[in-house]
Amino acid sequence: MSITYSDGIIHIQGKSTSLCLMVHPEFGLLNLYWGARLPDGNVAYVLDGITDGASFDLKSSRMPYDLPLRGSGYYQTPALCAVNNMGNDLVKLSYVSHEIYRGKKHIPGLPQVYTEEGDGAQSAEILLTDALTGLTACVTYTLIPETDVITRSMKVINAGNSPVTLTHMMSASIPLYGSDYDVINLSGAWARERHINRTPLAHYGVRIESQRGASGHEQNPFIALSEKTATEHTGSVWAMALVYSGSFLAACDVNNFHTARLSIGLNPETCSWKLMPSEEFQTPEAVLVYSGGGFNGMSQKFHSTIRRRIVRGYWRDEVRPILINNWEATYFNFNEEKIEKIARKAANLGIELFVLDDGWFGRRNTDNCSLGDWVVNTDKLPGGIRGIAEKINGMGMKFGLWFEPEMVSPDSDLYRAHPDWCLHAEGRSRTEARQQLILNLSRREVQDYIISAVSAVLRDAPIDYVKWDMNRNMTEYFSYGREADRQMETQHRYMLGLYRVMDEITSAFPKVLFEGCSGGGGRFDMGMLYYMPQFWTSDDTDPVERLKIQYGTSFVYPASAMGAHVSASPNHQTFRNTSVKMRADVALGGNFGFELDLNTLTDEETASVKESIEFVKKVRKTLQTGTFIRLESPFEGNYAAWEFVSEDQSTVILAAYRRLTAPNPCMKKIFLKSLDENSQYINEQTGKTYSGAALMHAGILFPDTRRDYQSMIQSFRKA
Ligand code: DGJ
Repeated sequence: MSITYSDGIIHIQGKSTSLCLMVHPEFGLLNLYWGARLPDGNVAYVLDGITDGASFDLKSSRMPYDLPLRGSGYYQTPALCAVNNMGNDLVKLSYVSHEIYRGKKHIPGLPQVYTEEGDGAQSAEILLTDALTGLTACVTYTLIPETDVITRSMKVINAGNSPVTLTHMMSASIPLYGSDYDVINLSGAWARERHINRTPLAHYGVRIESQRGASGHEQNPFIALSEKTATEHTGSVWAMALVYSGSFLAACDVNNFHTARLSIGLNPETCSWKLMPSEEFQTPEAVLVYSGGGFNGMSQKFHSTIRRRIVRGYWRDEVRPILINNWEATYFNFNEEKIEKIARKAANLGIELFVLDDGWFGRRNTDNCSLGDWVVNTDKLPGGIRGIAEKINGMGMKFGLWFEPEMVSPDSDLYRAHPDWCLHAEGRSRTEARQQLILNLSRREVQDYIISAVSAVLRDAPIDYVKWDMNRNMTEYFSYGREADRQMETQHRYMLGLYRVMDEITSAFPKVLFEGCSGGGGRFDMGMLYYMPQFWTSDDTDPVERLKIQYGTSFVYPASAMGAHVSASPNHQTFRNTSVKMRADVALGGNFGFELDLNTLTDEETASVKESIEFVKKVRKTLQTGTFIRLESPFEGNYAAWEFVSEDQSTVILAAYRRLTAPNPCMKKIFLKSLDENSQYINEQTGKTYSGAALMHAGILFPDTRRDYQSMIQSFRKA
């Protein structure tokens, strides 16, 4: 596992993947191969005969570019375009040098995959320049051997004498042989996030994007191609995901030679960037995953990369507390007495953290005011945040608090004092969503205000957890006072500002557990997870809906990143009735928590909740750090199932769910995976012993309970 250079080929060789680059004297940087591991990088022959045959198109259009550029016969999504002082956007890059080194250089100001001393990571940097304009591109590939992924990013340097405007700057763009693939993406909406789409790749390709100034509910910054026969457990998959939280483009172009090209990066629709002489522009980083073991193989590489090389700090390796959040229990309508009552019951049942959600500040009794005024409402909480936090601590629980720092209500002291601090376009109306506007985080003074306002609250009380919410997308994404030819930089400058704010606050409070949120899971991406190790998966807490949402989310993101709560029945989003056991059994597939007033439960339900809490405490290390394996897809039938296998392989948790019952039902068995065929596994609920081979090949029968919305959780210990 290393990066080597021999016979003109840079060979990036991981545990089970290889990627081969070559510099061509005429065509610049080429990507000759990405796929299953090769013993060596001897693949220059793939260019043999590639330009033979009569064609209307130029020979250059058949080249497997790693950095495809406009002009010279390439007609699809370019990886780099820059409008120069002659008014054209052509760039022609020639090789200057390359370097292979240990580790990876830190990318300032952006979230990224990081490396650690001695983890075997290596990088290859390739420098290319445009002789006419001086524009220079530095492409960096890094091999992360531990999790078997490759990262790619690009720095663009204006080494010329005139300004240029970058209009396309993709993070990765890789050709694949042929186009007979399926394309997989995660799409959805509020309360319906990250549903899986698998469709044949058509000859016009596919474009997945966000222009919202957030990665968004609608699409996730992820795209994959698979062999048509690939399953959860078998077949080849090539996937890209972006370590970024703003607007993005993930595309798969197919050209007239039926060659596919996967690319991912900043969305050119919403971002261009003026680069003055000697200035640099750094793209976000892309994570590239090749799996020969189907979609589970792909997901497991994303999961371990996120858990070990994106998530940082104290909470990376700590088990996460079981929390209760008051949002669905009270919405804005609470006072100290109500909160204490909910908290006391939660503490008695063994819950470890109480989270006070929206409504604790300013005059916020509904969602029409006070965002930006982070001062406690003493009518609701006479003892202030410190008072309520200390009471919660006195019950033996930690205390957490909700913020929505990026927003401002037009009805707020902050907006009255600084009406120009929100994103807006001169002379145009300011579109409100949820009666709020977005603070212009591309401005330093706005960033500083947020850092100081949030830090003041965190310093003033014993707060161990923060829920960082963000409840609308950008409309007029422009910035007061910025030069006209730099207005289209605003969205990306906002993200850089947001990352600075998050970096400062999370570094100043390293032991606080931060959970991201965006109207549920509207900004669930690797960019956020670099600062906040977990994210609220969806405002849809109905367990039946959650099966799809959590299953889809797990395509890229690990269970330890997904907030999952038991809420009331009937559910507030779907009005569906389900048992508290079903709700808990689904929620334990993520960071387990509650979002209801537990005082409203019957004794029987309370006993069931207590049992679930005790169970999660016993097995949460496996749930949070074990290998996650999808077994049955809720997108394909009446059942869903997944499995967790602990890092040391000693503990196995099987979670299976059925939506609807039927009279005289067919038998349904769940077959486990990734066990040791010859070892014995003891079922911790029944004491029965099974061989690994039996659990995998003879399976476990789903009980015929004749009720809708049923679950089966079983844990096994290796004998
Ligand atoms: C949207 C979040 O997703 C909810 O969980 C809750 O925090 C509300 N915002 C509060 O306004």
